[in-house]
Amino acid sequence: MAFDIDMIKKVYANIPGRVDKARELVGRPLTLAEKILYSHLWDGMPEKVYARGRDYVDFAPDRVACQDATAQMALLQFMHAGKPTVAVPTTVHCDHLIQAKVGAEADLKRANQTSNEVFDFLESVSNKYGIGFWKPGAGIIHQVVLENYAFPGGMMIGTDSHTVNAGGLGMVAIGVGGADAVDVMAGMAWELKFPKLIGVRLTGKLSGWTAPKDVILKVADILTVKGGTGAIIEYFGEGATSMSCTGKGTICNMGAEVGATTSTFGYDDSMDRYLRATGRADVADEARKIAPYLTADPEAYANPEAYFDQLIEIDLSTLEPHLNGPFTPDLATPISKMREAARENDWPLRVEYGLIGSCTNSSYEDISRAASLAKQVADKKLKTKANFTITPGSEQVRYTIERDGFIDTFNHIGATVFANACGPCIGMWDRYGDNASTGPRNTIVHSFNRNFAKRADGNPNTLAFVGSPELVTAIAIAGRLDFNPITDTLINEDGEEVKLDEPRGYELPPEGFAVEDAGYVAPKEDGSSVEVKVAPDSERLQLLDPFEPIRPESLLGMRLLIKAYGKCTTDHISMAGPWLRFRGHLDNIANNTLIGAVNAFNKKTNFVKNQLTGEYGGVPDTQRAYKKAGIRTLVVGDHNYGEGSSREHAAMQPRHLGVAAVLVKSFARIHETNLKKQGMLALTFAREEDYDLIREDDTFNFLDIDSFAPDRPLTIEVVHSDGSKDTIMANHSYNDTQIQWFREGSALNLIKKENA
Ligand code: F3S
Repeated sequence: MAFDIDMIKKVYANIPGRVDKARELVGRPLTLAEKILYSHLWDGMPEKVYARGRDYVDFAPDRVACQDATAQMALLQFMHAGKPTVAVPTTVHCDHLIQAKVGAEADLKRANQTSNEVFDFLESVSNKYGIGFWKPGAGIIHQVVLENYAFPGGMMIGTDSHTVNAGGLGMVAIGVGGADAVDVMAGMAWELKFPKLIGVRLTGKLSGWTAPKDVILKVADILTVKGGTGAIIEYFGEGATSMSCTGKGTICNMGAEVGATTSTFGYDDSMDRYLRATGRADVADEARKIAPYLTADPEAYANPEAYFDQLIEIDLSTLEPHLNGPFTPDLATPISKMREAARENDWPLRVEYGLIGSCTNSSYEDISRAASLAKQVADKKLKTKANFTITPGSEQVRYTIERDGFIDTFNHIGATVFANACGPCIGMWDRYGDNASTGPRNTIVHSFNRNFAKRADGNPNTLAFVGSPELVTAIAIAGRLDFNPITDTLINEDGEEVKLDEPRGYELPPEGFAVEDAGYVAPKEDGSSVEVKVAPDSERLQLLDPFEPIRPESLLGMRLLIKAYGKCTTDHISMAGPWLRFRGHLDNIANNTLIGAVNAFNKKTNFVKNQLTGEYGGVPDTQRAYKKAGIRTLVVGDHNYGEGSSREHAAMQPRHLGVAAVLVKSFARIHETNLKKQGMLALTFAREEDYDLIREDDTFNFLDIDSFAPDRPLTIEVVHSDGSKDTIMANHSYNDTQIQWFREGSALNLIKKENA
């Protein structure tokens, strides 16, 4: 499983020279985020200083990590790149497809039955292409990455939004869509808008009931769920260095909840200790050698107003434990104000469940501190009022906490230990069977990161509050949302008033980490003979065929598939929910294509006119009819078409069904790029008002596609059913390479051709 120390040495060999040059270029001291960004530029040092929040820049990440739900389509695509192995170290982690129900052993067994074909596929592709594979039960992607692969000063991308967790070890780690991961795995550059920088100065020191989680809950309160958008949050100050490395991971993890590109901390002793405790003394030794390059220049932290776009200050000595929620992670309530807030908002006070763990909060420190509270239940003759569950983040953590007696302690308060997987954090918690959507109004508290409606248990009436593992444990013991362990007492079995002592724990296991089978499967040295396992009749997986280039002559006589009205996000184009199980089967998931988009002509969803028959039907069926007739189609849309997630399915599905072009008032940038990568035409109205010219029975002729070139609009002739015509000019943002993608049928086709 070992991290690649040679790769890290290579990265570290480059960092000092590149950072020195960047400092010269920028002409001032640098923040840590800038050092990592400038030392990971794809083309080496640029001629000019990049404008934060404006310039798109190509980067060369050091690693890629994928989780099982998103890895399926990413790997199916990668198989088309024609590469014998991945270009950068990559790992796949099976964590999202394991449902929590009874307990770790039985749940894992069931997952291995229900999703075995997906796991087998991921394992065989990993084996073939040199990808490290972490089998179901090995742990949650971000905890496993922190324990094994993250390193100070590195840059990684991962196909999950909480990839940002690795910032706890001083990385710039960013969550991306599968298409971006494929680019990097295939040896291409990865593009990102040069982020803005938010500095968070932490003064004072955490103590008592306050935990690192409370720092990010407070930051969420200040920034709200959108406040970090397009920015890297960099934490510094005495409060940062006094905190554990895993605590830093928790803070970075939930940076996703304020929309931040990522979050990070400068290299310090806590990271050194964590690297050594997790068997990576050689990485720590290497990091020490270039330590000043793995944190900001001192001036940047001494005078942060001059170096960051925004500065936040938090005094850890006065920070109170918080509970954030319900339904949004930025609705912060200090625990001392919860009684009042719950009364005002009519939140049910009785707590049904306390759930700790997940990728956000399952470090040894978290668990040991929570266990110190669980232990007091017996010691003080208390009874735990709420149900209690633990989701360890990795087998290494689970094994170690079991060895050290913490699982026993939790068992004494009636806890259920779920598998080392996402489980209740992602709605994979079978709390209600088939009745989740009509579940009763109730309150739960957890130490996860997200608490949107239905996120944990599928019940829209569950109010979920996010807190530190220690606060969640205390509240589960008390069974009341408004229990403030700092001031309140509980009545024990003898009728005495008792108070919980402050949580105590260990930053790292005093006896060291241990594990018997971490769950890692190394790929073959030479995987060329490995056969990738996909059953031909599988409904969840389908090998991809390369997309055929869209022939210029097929862009004459095109039909309108749908003129989308108003908001059309990637969810409208490719819905999630029950469709998630088809993420690895393009033809099956294509049956949800654009079913959420509103038809501008009748304001209905999934109800469009089939121009061949005159009848109305669902979008996918109508499109399949055009495809069968060999007719290409056009999708028309409004502003910010394709906003939302970066999922490449929203581009691949229309492409698979035969849509050739998407013409809109404006695009969400990632979706626009995804369309280009799949060899489609992503176009914008030169005159927005031309959107109104499009009628339901129109046909379209692309008049000058043969001279498709950068900075040159395309001319589209719109032929109306009464014979009248309009000419529309369509702008585009294709560069020469992207036009090649179109001509070859897709970006992957081009890579494959270049590798041939
Ligand atoms: Fe999994 Fe929840 Fe983390 S879904 S990756 S445990 S955010």
